[in-house]
Parts: sequence; C-alpha cells; structure tokens
Amino acid sequence: MEPDFNFDRVIERYGTDSIKWDTQGRDIIPMWVADMDFESPREVQDAIIERAGHAIYGYTVESAGLKRAVVDWLSRRHNWTIDQDWIAFAPGVVPGIRVLLDILTSPGDKVIVQSPVYPPFFRVTRESGCTVLNNQLIYENNRYTMDFADLEEKAKDPQTTALVLCSPHNPVGRVWTKDELATLGNICREHGVFIISDEIHSDLVYKDYKHTPLASISDTLRDITFTCISPSKTFNLAGLKTAFVIIPDPEVMERYEASPLPKQATVFGGIAAEVAYSQGERWLGALLDYIEGNRQYLKTYLRENIPQIVDVENEGLYLVWLDCRELGLDAEGLERFMLDKAGLWVNQGYTFGSGGEGFVRMNLGCPRSILEKGLARLHKAVNDLRRAM
Ligand SMILES: Cc1ncc(COP(=O)(O)O)c(C=O)c1O
Repeated sequence: MEPDFNFDRVIERYGTDSIKWDTQGRDIIPMWVADMDFESPREVQDAIIERAGHAIYGYTVESAGLKRAVVDWLSRRHNWTIDQDWIAFAPGVVPGIRVLLDILTSPGDKVIVQSPVYPPFFRVTRESGCTVLNNQLIYENNRYTMDFADLEEKAKDPQTTALVLCSPHNPVGRVWTKDELATLGNICREHGVFIISDEIHSDLVYKDYKHTPLASISDTLRDITFTCISPSKTFNLAGLKTAFVIIPDPEVMERYEASPLPKQATVFGGIAAEVAYSQGERWLGALLDYIEGNRQYLKTYLRENIPQIVDVENEGLYLVWLDCRELGLDAEGLERFMLDKAGLWVNQGYTFGSGGEGFVRMNLGCPRSILEKGLARLHKAVNDLRRAM
C-alpha cells in the first residue's frame, strides 16, 4: 500500500462529537452509522485547512469549479454525461429526497420502496403525506433480487406516483445491473411513476461490478428520474453536509430551487466536494482495495469461526448485511446480544423494514485491527450463547 494511504492507522475519534463514537459507552465497538474511521484524502484536508486559515467565513458563492467537478466525475467514473444546469445543491441526500417527494407527489399518493432498505426512505415518504408501498426484495441463495411482478402490480395502482430507489442498495449490497435497472425503469415509465434514485453509494463498488446511473440508460428514463449523489460516503465527508440532486427537467428544477433548502454548499463543504471529485481518485482506488480486503477478511473469518452468521453476497459498499437468524434470537434479543454480549454496536435489521428481521448491518469502514477485534468479540459471544442453549 502506498504510504500516504495508511488505512491501517487507528485514529482516536472519541471526543470529536462523532455520532458513531460519542453516543455509546467506550466499551462498545461502534460498527453502525455509515461513516468511516479513515481520514479524508490529503488534498481535501489541505484545501480545508488553507481556507480555514483565511479566518473569514462570510457568505459564499458557488466556486466556478464545483459543478464542473461534479460533471467530470460522473462522466469519468460512471460514463454519464450531464449538463451543468441539471445540478442542484442539497445539504444531504435525505433532505433532497424529501423535497423531490414534495414536488413529485401529492398528499395521499403512494410511494414504492424496496425493503429491507435505508430507514429514512420510510420516514420522508410519510413526512410528505404519502403512504409507503413496499416492493420487498427477494432473498434467495444468499443474494437479493427485485420482485418485478410485485413491482408492476404496485406501479399499476393509479395512486402510485413515485418510487425511491437505492442504487447501489443499502443495506443488501447489490449493485443493480443495467438490465435490472432498465426493467424497473420501464415498469415505472409505463405506469407514470417517477423515480428518485439515491445513488449515494455509487462510487463504492467492488472491482468485478459496475454501477450504472439509472438516468444514463436512456432519454426516456432520464426524463422520469431524479438522481441524488454526494461525495460524503465516498470520501468520508458526511459532517460537511454536501450533496447534489441531478434534475434534468427544468420545471422540477424551478420548483426545487424554490424550496426552503439552502441553495449553496457551506464554505468548507463546497471546497471539499470540488477537491475530492477532482483530486480524490487515487485515494478512492486505495480505499476500495482496503475495503475489499476487510470484506474478504470478514468472509473468511465467519466461514471458519462463526458459520451461524452468514454474510450476504455484496457487490459494493463498506456495509455488510449479516444473516443472524440461525442464532435463534428475536429482534430485541439480537439487539441485546450484539450490545451486551458482543459489545458491538451494529444496525439492527428490523429498522430497515420488512425482511430485515434477524439481520444486522455491520460497517467495515474501519482499520483492519478494529474489525479483527469486533469479530473476535462476536465469536466469543456466539460461543457463549451456544453453550448456554
Ligand atoms: C442510501 C443512503 N442514502 C442517504 C444517506 C444519507 O445521506 P445524507 O447524509 O447526505 O442525507 C445514507 C447514509 O447512510 C444512505 O445510506
């Protein structure tokens, strides 16, 4: 590994007001919320430090290079050519989705989500006055696929006006293929359903897979798709609250711009996004190698030591979805087991909606030594549990 990318280095995060580290006791290893225990790329750090040194943090305008950097990133990394005018700012992907839902739906409409899925999808749908229609994913042979027959039924409902897609999918780790996305897109197009495509994890894809932006597949899909992206997962910048919504439809853009969301990145968020997208690629390559190494370590460790817990086949993300149903614990029992017996804070599967019960989501965005420690704890706790049965 190149010396400037030392992902093995353990960096103290306690006492930094980190939601991941500072909200439970110090005897718990936090492997939950989706940020990583790694420094952001050196170039991003330097740019922020330099700007901070100016010591005047007044109102800003968008830098000339920010949207250009987004356009170039999508073209280089995802083979998607967009117009700069399609880019709007959001202080996070979730607020972006919320505002899009307000624009694209009316209270009382139905919105499709595909559980188990990132929990705020349910909340923002309800906050927009809509009802959730769940097109649950199919879990078979350790892998998830979409249930297109059920999707078609739900899309056909005249009250269904939108679908919130997670692509790649958190927590199940699928990087949807172009064919899967085209099938989903065409069902939605046929039945007049808009798609909000949350592609926040699109840069975190393993070597053998390829992310396809849904809106890049065809002009017809572009016309019904609103894509949310962010450098926050990719470069570990979540605290800078910087995301982008790609809105090719000028009328929807006009309404989005009229929403109460901030229209500008913060002074540091804008700089970080521009520098990350234009100079962070080498760092990202090294990060992905490291994450795949952690993924492989976990896979081998579970197979050799904790075969009762099965890691779902994932194709990207630094999050893994673990099938713990063989432990025979109910939702509360599994939560208590992970916290009290294993000393691990992971996300509980039931919070991801139907189909998540008995699973947990574990964050591998950490130095290998932390992962080793976490898995050793889990191993011991599972052995103790088996002995007690
Ligand atoms: C699928 C997905 N969307 C959105 C977010 C959060 O995005 P933001 O912090 O930009 O609102 C996350 C964070 O874990 C996520 O996994």
